[in-house]
Amino acid sequence: MRSHTCNGISRSDIGNTVTLIGWVKSKRDQGAGLIFIDLRDREGVTQVVFKPEINKENSELAESFRSEDVIQVTGTVEERPEIDGQSTFNTEIATGEVELIVSEVKVINRAEVLPFPLDKPVSNEDLRLKYRFLDLRRPAMARNMQLRHRITKTTRDVLDEDGFLEIETPILSKSTPEGARDFLVPARLHPGGFYALPQAPQQYKQLLMCGGVEKYFQIARCFRDEDLRADRQPEFTQIDIEASFVEQDDIIGLIEKLLGRVFKESIGADVPASFDRITYQEAMDTFGSDKPDRRFGLHLTDIGDVFANSEFKVFSGALKSGGVIKAINAKGLCGASVGQIDKMTKAAIEAGAKGLAYIQARGPEPADWRSPITKFLSEEELQGLKSKLNIEEGDLVLFGAGDWDTVCDVLGRVRLMCADYLNLLEGNEELNFLWVTDFPLLHFDKEEGRWHAVHHPFTRPVPEDEAKLKAGEYAGLRAQAYDVVLNGYELGGGSIRIHEADLQDAMFTALGVTEEEKKTMFGHILDAFSFGAPPHGGVALGLDRVAMLVCGVDSIREVIAFPKNNKGSDLMSDSPAEVDFKQLRELYIQSTAKKDKDKKGQPQPAQTK
Ligand code: AMO
Ligand code: AMP
Repeated sequence: MRSHTCNGISRSDIGNTVTLIGWVKSKRDQGAGLIFIDLRDREGVTQVVFKPEINKENSELAESFRSEDVIQVTGTVEERPEIDGQSTFNTEIATGEVELIVSEVKVINRAEVLPFPLDKPVSNEDLRLKYRFLDLRRPAMARNMQLRHRITKTTRDVLDEDGFLEIETPILSKSTPEGARDFLVPARLHPGGFYALPQAPQQYKQLLMCGGVEKYFQIARCFRDEDLRADRQPEFTQIDIEASFVEQDDIIGLIEKLLGRVFKESIGADVPASFDRITYQEAMDTFGSDKPDRRFGLHLTDIGDVFANSEFKVFSGALKSGGVIKAINAKGLCGASVGQIDKMTKAAIEAGAKGLAYIQARGPEPADWRSPITKFLSEEELQGLKSKLNIEEGDLVLFGAGDWDTVCDVLGRVRLMCADYLNLLEGNEELNFLWVTDFPLLHFDKEEGRWHAVHHPFTRPVPEDEAKLKAGEYAGLRAQAYDVVLNGYELGGGSIRIHEADLQDAMFTALGVTEEEKKTMFGHILDAFSFGAPPHGGVALGLDRVAMLVCGVDSIREVIAFPKNNKGSDLMSDSPAEVDFKQLRELYIQSTAKKDKDKKGQPQPAQTK
């Protein structure tokens, strides 16, 4: 229906007859039948001109055009003229030196008045999501979709060149504990039975290794019923990879190559050939995060030595019970507002702190400092603090005292808030890649009184710790696991896996899996490991997060064609929705949502007895 796209004509077409089809982006009616239309398609915009002296009827028709009508035009390409000695070139669009003088026009379809403009930012995201089919026409969204395509295409190219096979694994699969809550699908043919949607194809890809595939990848849909955030969706996509006969450095090298090619071929960015590596311990100690944003400082400093003999109970108590005292010196943030300090305190408390002690250095000496805690500290301690943290006039110092995990986590969050208040990242276009390695294998959950896998139950301990795992000594075990981080986002994670039935069995024991559950939930994988399973390892990148960072946007919803909103709803199709009683009956399901509505009308989940 067209000879060119709306981005496809240039000076070399001057004098030629071309046909374009697209949406009316805007109309400028100069009166007396002279009408300018900006015609838009996926590729770009061309100015088309209706002149009464060429065809009066066409001009009359053009007067009726509204935004987003679909029209087809044929005409001659001309150079844009000079008017009163002034050029009318538009340097903002690729076709800006030419225009199309229309000789034929056809209205293909009319558009109603739009719910929001397509050429301006729209702050109401729910409205955008309700009319996503319109939102996707906006050039920014069209670009995001094109970049996302480029990323998956490059991924397939790079992995294919390396001999990886793209293999699909089931969506209707089995519930296994992998961290998040499962989405369940009732199985009509098995009354009372449920499939689970995969949180990741983790077990399948390992079973493919047992099947001799050696190198697997998949652009894989994953489903996790968890609380949503800007970088989390209930269904999302992983670039999922697994390989046999590899070590950690092989996977790391592959991902560095893959991300290098992806960033180059999508946005032309140069990424270092290899990324820095820091250990989990170092990441938490220095940045208070296992996905540190290293584009700014504000490091966490251990100040325990300054308070070794302190009278201040909050500090001495932390040290006595084996904890730590750490601080951040946020240079220049002394003038933080009461509201900002309250917000940081609230975040600290949410992360498990009892409070957030601080010092506002209104002058260089402790006597000039404003703080709720300095009255408890000795002159020696204040001077020690001053020199250790290099406190100068204008600084804001924030403290955490308690167990190491909590203090690091608390100050890690506070650190990001300080960076925000100080605008430390404004205009920063750096791509700061990083590997975090040497994660702990297990984490002890004090509330539940049991061990959890830090990565997942299939992650291999370092060789020196294998015997300890088998012997039931769980504290301090280290994993062969690694995460790749970009600008404070966890892009992906992976590990070298257990491939022996006895070691996997010991891991399940550590996680409190009963002998019965080992058979019913994991029998297939333990079985597979007992028939000559190859050593293997892998990784999964969050494709949506990669695309978000490639596109330079701050939510993965911007790079997903039809995302859910932050309450997990698809506002366009209005799902999830209630279903017919008959449908439920076929599935042997009875909904208690209605029956259990509380006083406010909110459905309550059925009580487990
Ligand atoms: P993990 O659970 O770390 O590892 O997930 C890998 C990557 O997937 C992305 N991701 C998400 N993206 C959007 N929304 C979500 N809800 C979401 N959850 C995770 C992140 C994350 O780094 N099977 C293992 C990988 C392996 O060991 O090979 C796994 O799924 O970018
Ligand atoms: P208190 O006298 O116990 O209220 O504590 C004095 C100051 O220390 C207050 O500003 C608290 O917010 C702060 N504080 C209390 N516990 C901690 C902690 N674990 N880490 C950091 N600051 C704390």
